[in-house]
Amino acid sequence: MKTSGGSDAAKRRAGESAAEAVTDGDVVGLGTGSTAAHAIRAIGRRVNAGLDVRGVPTSFASRRLARERGIPLVDLDAVFDPVASREAPASDGGTGIDVAIDGADQIADTAIIKGGGAAHAREKVVAAAADRFLVVVDPTKVVDVLDRSVPVEVLPDARATVARTIRRIGGEPILREATRKDGPVVTDNGNLVLDCDFGEIDDPDPLATRLASIPGVLEHGLFVGLANEIHLGNDEGVEIRD
Ligand code: 5RP
Repeated sequence: MKTSGGSDAAKRRAGESAAEAVTDGDVVGLGTGSTAAHAIRAIGRRVNAGLDVRGVPTSFASRRLARERGIPLVDLDAVFDPVASREAPASDGGTGIDVAIDGADQIADTAIIKGGGAAHAREKVVAAAADRFLVVVDPTKVVDVLDRSVPVEVLPDARATVARTIRRIGGEPILREATRKDGPVVTDNGNLVLDCDFGEIDDPDPLATRLASIPGVLEHGLFVGLANEIHLGNDEGVEIRD
């Protein structure tokens, strides 16, 4: 699997640019990864200066960082079903997620591969539920044609059957292993991740639909047609594409 080599300054510019798009009263989806973390820190600074927002974290890691930075948090039940939820509703009464900000592992036009941090299931729920989804990347993520392995979160019992189907549709699945301990990566949802190499993905939409149809697949990392704005940070500034 290819790894990200973007500069931290470029990631920071992208994250801070997207954080500027957050306005008073917003419910904000908080993505996962080093670029999204810059956005969370920037939103935290704005909250400490008086901005009134609520964050919906997409992982344990983003939840922890947002808490550390003083961002009030809310869960999806409270945002979308405040009457049934026992949590306090958002300040606007609970009308959904205004904006979600998240990173990407690779992006071609507006088709994205996510899941380098194994958080793509919740990331996709939050991105799809948001009125606007802002993607924050550095130039190393931008390509003409997607060719990174697609992370596929699978129920542990379905690992072998999903892997067999992936091979049948032309992919090469590899179980993601934890780097610092002996054993596989386990997602926040208690599942496993197959990183699936399909070579160049000329047409991501049908592959996304096919992957989603495999029994035992919880979610895959192809995000097609979800992004509204790309905040592309570089060593000089930020380019916003919509
Ligand atoms: C986590 C993700 C991340 O957003 C993606 O891996 C990008 O991370 P980074 O900004 O650290 O390069 O999809 O599941």
